[in-house]
Amino acid sequence: MNILGIESSCDETACAIVKDGREVLSNVVYTQIPLHQPYGGVVPEVASRAHIEKIHGVVKEAMRAPVDAVAVTYGPGLASSLLVGLNAAKGLALSLGVPLYGVNHIEAHLHTPFLYDTGAQATTVSAPESYMPALGLAVSGGHTTWVDMPSYGEYKIIGQTLDDAAGEAFDKAAKLLGLGYPGGPVIDRWARGVSLTDDLPRFPKGAPRPGTAALAGLDAELCVSFSGLKTALLYSVRKNPPKDDAEKARLVAAYQEAIVGALADRTARALKRRSYKVLIVGGGVSLNGRLRVRLAEVAQSAGVPLLLAQPKYCGDNAAMIAGLAFWRRNVVGDAALAVDVNPSLQPGD
Ligand code: KG4
Ligand code: ZN
Repeated sequence: MNILGIESSCDETACAIVKDGREVLSNVVYTQIPLHQPYGGVVPEVASRAHIEKIHGVVKEAMRAPVDAVAVTYGPGLASSLLVGLNAAKGLALSLGVPLYGVNHIEAHLHTPFLYDTGAQATTVSAPESYMPALGLAVSGGHTTWVDMPSYGEYKIIGQTLDDAAGEAFDKAAKLLGLGYPGGPVIDRWARGVSLTDDLPRFPKGAPRPGTAALAGLDAELCVSFSGLKTALLYSVRKNPPKDDAEKARLVAAYQEAIVGALADRTARALKRRSYKVLIVGGGVSLNGRLRVRLAEVAQSAGVPLLLAQPKYCGDNAAMIAGLAFWRRNVVGDAALAVDVNPSLQPGD
């Protein structure tokens, strides 16, 4: 079964065709990063306008195989951006006479390790069902969420950020230090040469304020808070502005260490809560070199394999939407034409 996926929840306009949920037949991503760079963050009006301009060309380029169904991200994300993809998907499904499925963007990030390219060497990753129950961690610019996956297509949030997402924390720090946008890759690069055994600047470790996790109905031990980290960086820079690039690098390395340390620590705790068969990690922040190292350590000491996506499937793309739709079709058949966007959709909804 070939499913065509469309993704437009944030600043990437994307379309892909995936066979039987895993084999990527085509994958086209138009990224708007250069459009948002001057502002140091995504501007919703600029994003939705660019989606409108690009979606037709992107879909046309990806249409390289017969299509049996159309899948589309209907949340979470920016409402005005989601609408562009959803309406394109409705039009396409109607004109092709095929069903339309709504897909959750965060759940789709957790499908990325299962994708492989058509014609490439056989993947070593088995079918998703064989790894359940799994612990999933979705880390991106908009989300930092730990989910319990008892079976494939079932998601229960067990932990999350109570304020800023990990990627947002990277992006805000880079903006503050004038390092450019998006901040994650830049900080990753700046931090690479810094020795972690040195006496680095100190940052809060991402612990939530007492009581805040309970308000979200979650266990504080599995939650993070990154807004204090960003404030600490602001005060530190005001008090002691870095004198040269070496000092700036030490500062961002310490900041990255605080984020990565918090993510690794909560993941290690979650892995102790029940016996999982695998740790699945997806989202743009999973490209972070230091995070990959720390998560590999955590997975190894828990005795579970770590499944990460190929780099090109870590950031936003439509192959993950088309792929997950093979297992999880939130809205099926004609009813899908009545579906609306849901900017605050959560995993498991
Ligand atoms: O998954 P994604 O493309 O979009 C969202 O769904 O948000 O993630 C984008 C986020 C940005 O915040 C970006 O700074 C971050 O992923 N990111 C990274 C790295 N590459 C991208 N963060 C840390 N290290 C990286 N190497
Ligand atoms: Zn994303």
